[in-house]
Amino acid sequence: MTEHNIRHEIAHLARVELVTPDPDGTLWFFKELLGMYETSREAQSVYLRGYEDPYPWSLKVTEGPQPRLGHAALRASSPEALERRYRAIKDGNLDHQWLDGDHGYGKTLRFTSPDGHDLRLLWEAEKYQAPPELRSKILTRPSKKPLKGIPVKRIDHLNLLANDVTPVKESLERYLGFETRERVVEGDVEFGAWLSTNILGHEVAIMRDNLGAHGRLHHAAFFYGIQQHNIDAAEMFREYDITIEAGPDRHGITQGAFLYVFEPGGNRIELFGGPGSFNWNPTTRPEPGRCRTSTPASPSAAPNCRGRPTSPTAPRRSGLWPTRWRTPPNRRSLRRPPRPWPPPSPDLAARPARVRLRWQARPPGHTSGLASKGGCLT
Ligand SMILES: [Fe+2]
Repeated sequence: MTEHNIRHEIAHLARVELVTPDPDGTLWFFKELLGMYETSREAQSVYLRGYEDPYPWSLKVTEGPQPRLGHAALRASSPEALERRYRAIKDGNLDHQWLDGDHGYGKTLRFTSPDGHDLRLLWEAEKYQAPPELRSKILTRPSKKPLKGIPVKRIDHLNLLANDVTPVKESLERYLGFETRERVVEGDVEFGAWLSTNILGHEVAIMRDNLGAHGRLHHAAFFYGIQQHNIDAAEMFREYDITIEAGPDRHGITQGAFLYVFEPGGNRIELFGGPGSFNWNPTTRPEPGRCRTSTPASPSAAPNCRGRPTSPTAPRRSGLWPTRWRTPPNRRSLRRPPRPWPPPSPDLAARPARVRLRWQARPPGHTSGLASKGGCLT
């Protein structure tokens, strides 16, 4: 198989594991507010799924000292595709190992991104079989829509932070066949890239980690598909003391209708109120210049991804956010030096619950420089 036709080797994002220091709060958030079903438990982990997730679980909540990404797993499009991707990862000298299955998923290839993210690849996945009381009368729906909170349908995408965006983006393109759909570039620095292997505008995004850390998560996103649900969810979150970071609104990049919140354990979660832009192009590799990019900061800088020279009068940061966000609403935060992460004294037990929620809800390590420039992200 040539590099030209590897795009469809990965079917989609199947699951994500989030580590939380507050498992009870995190489970309450996902089960009671977002209506996810609990399907199993083992040791310090609980397995959850949205009512339209196709497999036994799409979210694994694991207790741990800090909120962070445990791992994210992609499903290959065939056993042969998994084998081919394994060989590509092996030949590319990415750190990797085979793992046993996990609650409905078969053997899994674990590999590490150039920035240290724990990513996994698998083919074998059980189709979720709902018990009789949860069977939906809608034939394409794996289980009934629950009467709880404002339920999400399924996992949607993942946004990773990276000290250097480009190597992670290029590894996803080279070894897994991802296509870069949009980018944010300033000068010769790539601040963000949005990639997918299917019709969705993106399933994995990578954004520059301005703290210089490695292997961190920006957010995991779950799908509503209806923008009004984000507005209803915002009202619900206000009533139940869930910190809203941004939205409901629509992204300039990907056109996704978004709402960012922090679950009680401190992980940033996005509710996706629409599918955003689709990619109908059947070609198997990105054509040079097809991705959208911002205007470089300097007219003397490299041309944009269409290969055209940029206007010498182009204003700095033009294109980093929509017109109405050209002046970031939280510009003061741009001048604030980054605070250390993790916090210097994470003595959870000694803190009153409300104070604990406050710093967990706005962990400085979970805010990228781009997010602080107006939240115009995906
Ligand atoms: Fe997102």
